This record gives sequence, structure tokens and C-alpha cells, in this order.
Amino acid sequence: MSAVTLKDRRSHAAAGEIRIRDALESDLHAIIDIYNATVPTRMVTAELEPTTVEARLPWFHEHSPDQYPFWVAENDGRVIGWLDFKKFLPRCAYRGTAEISLYVHEKSRRQGVARRLLEEAIARAPLLGINAIVGLIFGHNQPSLKLFERLGFERWGLLPRIAQLDGNKRDLVIMGRHLRAH
Ligand SMILES: CC(C)(COP(=O)(O)OP(=O)(O)OC[C@H]1O[C@@H](n2cnc3c(N)ncnc32)[C@H](O)[C@@H]1OP(=O)(O)O)[C@@H](O)C(=O)NCCC(=O)NCCS
Repeated sequence: MSAVTLKDRRSHAAAGEIRIRDALESDLHAIIDIYNATVPTRMVTAELEPTTVEARLPWFHEHSPDQYPFWVAENDGRVIGWLDFKKFLPRCAYRGTAEISLYVHEKSRRQGVARRLLEEAIARAPLLGINAIVGLIFGHNQPSLKLFERLGFERWGLLPRIAQLDGNKRDLVIMGRHLRAH
């Protein structure tokens, strides 16, 4: 992806500019730190323990810029968020559907970073042969559900009480959006 420099719509906190670019292996520490900070909240990921850069290397290398990209948002050279695409399901008929995940550093939230990443995904996905995007989100992850709704996603599915988090059974919501054909 050619680097796209985007003006932050609320520039005060993120000090001006958010730049979205392909993630590099050298970004993995920052990516994993942002991810691990969400594990104890039990709001976001079904992982129950923090992960490591080493454990996540194979996952990182499953991505490719021209099919299932992995992007970071950076500000002043610091990674403040990330978004990745992955296969929704392995069967060929689902090739045009991708699952995305995105995470923003706690200190950079509510500044439009996730919105920028998701808008970029919606705009660029058709160029990658993707015509539908889904996000798999816990039913109690209100910030994320709101974010996806805001960006035109609809509730396509509910998998009730399928996650067990510290003894609590939690719903998984499938948020989806069809994209304009390229
Ligand atoms: C969800 C998350 C990605 C939002 O990131 P963000 O950069 O703070 O979001 P933005 O500032 O771009 O907000 C865009 C919209 O999302 C919604 N939103 C974001 N955070 C919200 C919150 N805490 N409460 C309610 N709505 C929220 C709002 O509609 C917001 O639009 P508005 O500011 O015009 O009201 C961030 O909280 C996060 O990283 N959470 C942990 C990871 C996660 O849940 N990922 C999603 C599952 S893969």
C-alpha cells in the first residue's frame, strides 16, 4: 500500500496526523502491546492470556499487502493502532469475504483513529477482491459495536453465549457490510 497520510479530524490529541501504512515485522512489539492491553478487560478478545511477538510471528506472516493486508496507524512515528484482514472461512466460495480486526492504543482512543482505519478498509477492500467485510465482536463490546454501526455495518448474526470468560457466558455478534464492486 502506498502510504496514505490522513488528517486527524480531532487533531489536538493525536498531534496532527495519522498515517496508515503496511505493518512491518518491526512493528510487532507495538502491535502486540496494544493487543495484550485488552486481554484482561475480557471485552475484546477470546484469548485469556497475553501473547508474545514470537507466538504471533506466523499469524503476522499470513498477511500480504495485496490480499489480506495488515496496516498500522502511526502518529509522530509511533504505532497507535492497527487493522488486519483475514480469511473469513477457508472454502473458495468465501474468497470475497474477509474478517477484520482493529485495535487502538488506550491513550489514542476517541480521536478518530479506528474510524480512519475502518474507512480505509472499506475503501480499499474492493481493490483486493473483497466484497464483504465482517467483524466478530463480543455482544458486550459496546464501543466496537457502535464503531461498526457508525461505519455502515449491520448485525448479521448472533451466536449466543458461545464464549466463556471467567465464568461468564458471552455472546458473539457478527457485524457485516457489503462493499461496492470495484
Ligand atoms: C473499539 C475501538 C477500536 C475504537 O477505537 P477509537 O479510535 O477510540 O474509535 P474512534 O475514535 O474512531 O470512534 C469512532 C466511533 O466509534 C464509536 N465509539 C468508539 N469508542 C466508543 C466508546 N468508548 N463508546 C461508545 N462509542 C464508541 C463512536 O460511534 C465513534 O464515533 P463518534 O466519536 O463520532 O461518536 C477501541 O476502543 C479499541 O481498540 N477497543 C479494543 C479493541 C476492539 O474492541 N476492537 C474491535 C474488535 S476486533
